[in-house]
Amino acid sequence: MKVTVVGAGNVGATCADVLAYREIANEVILVDIKEGVAEGKALDVWQKAPINLYDTKTTGVTNDYSKTAGSEVVVITSGLPRKPGMTRDDLIETNAGIVKSVTEQIIKYSPDATIVIVSNPLDVMTYQAHISSKNSRNKVIGMAGILDTARYRAFLAEELNVSPKDIQAVLMGGHGDTMVPLPRYTTVGGIPVTEMIAKDKLDAIIERTKFGGGELVKLMGTSAWYAPGSAAAQMVEAIVKDQRRVFPVCVKLEGEYGIDDCYLGVPVILGKNGVEKVIELDLNEDEKALLEDSRQHVKEVMSVLDRLS
Ligand code: LMR
Repeated sequence: MKVTVVGAGNVGATCADVLAYREIANEVILVDIKEGVAEGKALDVWQKAPINLYDTKTTGVTNDYSKTAGSEVVVITSGLPRKPGMTRDDLIETNAGIVKSVTEQIIKYSPDATIVIVSNPLDVMTYQAHISSKNSRNKVIGMAGILDTARYRAFLAEELNVSPKDIQAVLMGGHGDTMVPLPRYTTVGGIPVTEMIAKDKLDAIIERTKFGGGELVKLMGTSAWYAPGSAAAQMVEAIVKDQRRVFPVCVKLEGEYGIDDCYLGVPVILGKNGVEKVIELDLNEDEKALLEDSRQHVKEVMSVLDRLS
């Protein structure tokens, strides 16, 4: 099966690399607007195959969407990353136009593809791709929950000095400062996290998670790529292998959690049809209030997009 990754920058190239070396797809097409970049990075990944022992064929193209025809899943990473001092929302004007035109090209050649958005501002770029593709909501989804949850899990693993593999967690809401980590649904090898860590330490980790992307932007002068690219590849794997994994994913809510017409991260079952089911947790009043804050923030940015179009 064929998977396309649009954008051969750091995140797109990392995603293509993970898809190849973990043999998640048989064929990976990497597309970029800059002449030669996708070709070069795809060739580099292909030349690594005899060393790391995989046979996924990786091909790069400059803006030739006909080569993406028949893709089962398309990951869109196109657009500018943020620089220090910027919020993700600051990217909306530039990235909305890019995501719109990329989505239109993708749908022309792969009308049935499930689209995974990585471009920022994530939730609103998922909205943009949904409008531009006119596909059903289960097939136009955003990657952020896996990334944000991974950061939360990594920080907890470090603090508790345990394997990150044993931290299970759910995180909801928008991909921004209003995201909602849920300690009530966080376990360490099945043990509620609240039995393993003091409240002040847990609160500090939750705060660090909310600003996890910004911490990296500050350190590197640009956005992260290893974890975002790997998180997108994990979503692709769940879809192409019909794994029915339970992940937090950005999807248009249509009444779930009492929310209508807003793109937010929620736990879902991810399988061959994209979002197979939105899982509705029984949130307490505090959690509901945090989710409502996040909804209001995403809604505001969605209305900025409406005004731009
Ligand atoms: C991330 O969380 O790493 C991405 O959304 C990129 C960013 O600018 O933070």
